[in-house]
Amino acid sequence: MNGQPMTRRSVVIGTGSALPKHAVSNAELATRVDTSDEWIVERTGIRNRYLAGEGETTASLAIEAARAALIAADIAGASIDLIVLATATPDQTFPATATIVQDAIGANGGIAFDVAAVCSGFLYGVGIADSMLRSGMAKRALVIGAETFSRILDWEDRGTCVLFGDGAGAVVLEARESADPASPGILATKLHADGAHNQLLFVDGGPSTTGTVGKLRMKGREVFRHAVTNLASVLREVLEEAGFTTNDIDWLVPHQANARILEATAKKLNMSHAKVVMTVQDHANTSAASVPLALDAAVRDGRIQPGQLVMIEAMGGGFTWGASLIRM
Ligand code: UT7
Repeated sequence: MNGQPMTRRSVVIGTGSALPKHAVSNAELATRVDTSDEWIVERTGIRNRYLAGEGETTASLAIEAARAALIAADIAGASIDLIVLATATPDQTFPATATIVQDAIGANGGIAFDVAAVCSGFLYGVGIADSMLRSGMAKRALVIGAETFSRILDWEDRGTCVLFGDGAGAVVLEARESADPASPGILATKLHADGAHNQLLFVDGGPSTTGTVGKLRMKGREVFRHAVTNLASVLREVLEEAGFTTNDIDWLVPHQANARILEATAKKLNMSHAKVVMTVQDHANTSAASVPLALDAAVRDGRIQPGQLVMIEAMGGGFTWGASLIRM
């Protein structure tokens, strides 16, 4: 046979997301925390976040996002043979929240597990699912980022509690063979961790230490500094691996931690602000859910179109970070 050899790629065939019912503005937050709308907007760009109420959990949000992604892909839950769920706030210590989702969507029989890489969890999930799909271990995967960080926030610590929100996002990936180099799918992914910084962003509890869940602690300034450097560097790495330049990217869908980090990263890469999908103002930092929430928002409002090149990236506790280039 002439022409290009066949390659197998993981193709995004649907996206979905879910948010708790209760939206909380900065002004509302300022009635119970010593803060102001002005400080939060100026330092972070955040204007609103959604906080889980009674009956809303990481699993319930993940299930809602997964169902929305299945509808968008026009497939049944039973056809999913791999679920990778990224979270730092599982419903229980075990079993994996992914197994609760598996049962709810009727996907029993495949593989289901959680990934713990905090804010980079969705990127890690995409990297793992893509490897498993390309190796033939599975054919259709749900990769979900779902969090209820409101449950691990110290509401007395204004330096952290104003920054986070709850939510979930999901993508359906399908393994497809094509000989066309311009065919859709994940083109390159790079993941990193540097455990030397594991005490700059952490939770001060856990099953094997305090026996409690613990609360989030962060040295914000140091995280900020590392985030800009690491993200710009991993984005360049992915572009080089895939054989593209910054100019080829149609949309950058970054982890939504702070508008200033997004702006600084785009500037470092000489990328126009207009190509950056920004949802931090509406959702705040939803950790592993932030990238798939932003991706789903931009797919649903028509910004992201089939054939376009989309770069996703995130950095979080560990430190962990990563990026992935996807042809939609
Ligand atoms: O998703 C994982 C990755 N996480 C991140 O990317 C977070 C990265 N870090 C950041 O986004 C920023 O460092 C923060 C938004 C967390 C903080 O911004 P900053 O410019 O680094 O402020 P800061 O922590 O140095 O605090 C500056 C001042 C302090 O007052 P003094 O000491 O200068 O008088 C704080 O006490 O702002 C004060 N402050 C607040 N004031 C009103 C801290 N939090 C608040 C608040 N409201 N919520």
